Amino acid sequence: MALRKNKYSETLVKAKKILADNIYTLSLRGKVYRRIIPSKSFYVHQWNWDSATHAMATVYFDEDLALDEIRSLVSGQWKNGMIPHIVFNPKEKIYFPGPKFWGTDKFGFSSGITQPPLLAISILHIYKTAKNRGKAQKFLEEMLPKLDKYHNYLKKYRDGEGSGLLTIIHPWESGTDNSPRFDKYLLEIDLKDIPKEVIQIVRRFRTDIKIGEKTTRPLMEDYYRYIYLIFLYRNLGWNYRKIVADSPFAIKDTFFSSIWAASNLALSDLFMLTGDKIKAKKFKIMAEQTRRAIKKSFDPKEETIALFAPIIAGGIDEEQFKILMRILKDRKRFWSKFPVPSTSLDSSNFDSFRYWRGPLWPIINMLLIEGLTSQNKIQKELLKKTLDLIKKKGFFECYNSQNGNPAGFPNFSWTAAIFTYLYCKYYL
Ligand code: DGY
Repeated sequence: MALRKNKYSETLVKAKKILADNIYTLSLRGKVYRRIIPSKSFYVHQWNWDSATHAMATVYFDEDLALDEIRSLVSGQWKNGMIPHIVFNPKEKIYFPGPKFWGTDKFGFSSGITQPPLLAISILHIYKTAKNRGKAQKFLEEMLPKLDKYHNYLKKYRDGEGSGLLTIIHPWESGTDNSPRFDKYLLEIDLKDIPKEVIQIVRRFRTDIKIGEKTTRPLMEDYYRYIYLIFLYRNLGWNYRKIVADSPFAIKDTFFSSIWAASNLALSDLFMLTGDKIKAKKFKIMAEQTRRAIKKSFDPKEETIALFAPIIAGGIDEEQFKILMRILKDRKRFWSKFPVPSTSLDSSNFDSFRYWRGPLWPIINMLLIEGLTSQNKIQKELLKKTLDLIKKKGFFECYNSQNGNPAGFPNFSWTAAIFTYLYCKYYL
């Protein structure tokens, strides 16, 4: 692709280099897979919504790589339809908790939870962007049954009651691990009730704080609870009906559900493309139901980026949109010097360095940019601020939203992919 030279051209070259450097080719069950790992320092396996995003970027310059990445991710799909949050690489050891701890070997070589279901959005984008139409069509036909199964899994096990909102069973499923919106639920798990062996395992094997900067990572008491939940689910044999019914952490999340709404709409479009009007209608109705549920549960006092769920879900009404724009542009809340902070600046839980308690995450900016209409001035402003920050500071996992300093692992594929995607989509 011939690119016009402009102020982002050099950063784009660097972004592509990071993505290329983080490609990992491996053999699983006798088949060869190609994927991009988030970071060589710690996130050495394949993560669900990271990969969905990587492929949205790589399709602009290496279509086969985008298709391979998604194929590698869905190779981890369980029989019940779940696409896990991590598809492991048997050779890698630095990430904790690794494959053994999850006790999922009966189901796949993966974790036992999922992540925000960005996949249908990613596949629709790949399908529309790919120049090789033959390959794109084949890819769509290959992926549709898998997406269908994944969305049915989420509907069946996470919205059994038909509320339109999905239940998450672990903070990691939300993608926003230590967000303050989970505090009150996690605090109900008394540390005294967590078996000693779990506490000891975390103390001995937790690696992220040894490899990464401790002040930017979730606290020890968060990790005791994260790992305890996995331990509980493993003992429930990964039976999701039982997990949703019995878990101390099975909660409705509007942020997760907003991506679900947008994804159901994408899936509806994908079915329309193949002429399956019945399924197209089914997923459109599901998207609309979730949008209504999100609209109803809107709480302007929400202290985290989950507040913006109606923008991500789409179909927002004018009144809510105006309220949200006011909150987004409020310098005391979400319009920090480097927006958007993951937690409102005026929250007592705001922490400028600690993971999802304050730092800016490029994925959130991307989701908001996508949710704002193309005429919107704020969209353009946010787009420019996001690209400028990455250009200036480099490709980190997240950034301090007050001074722009890096606050996570370096050479991060997700950030490189988001830069590439936003630049290619909005500037070319
Ligand atoms: C994990 O370790 O898998 C978390 O979801 C990423 O922060």
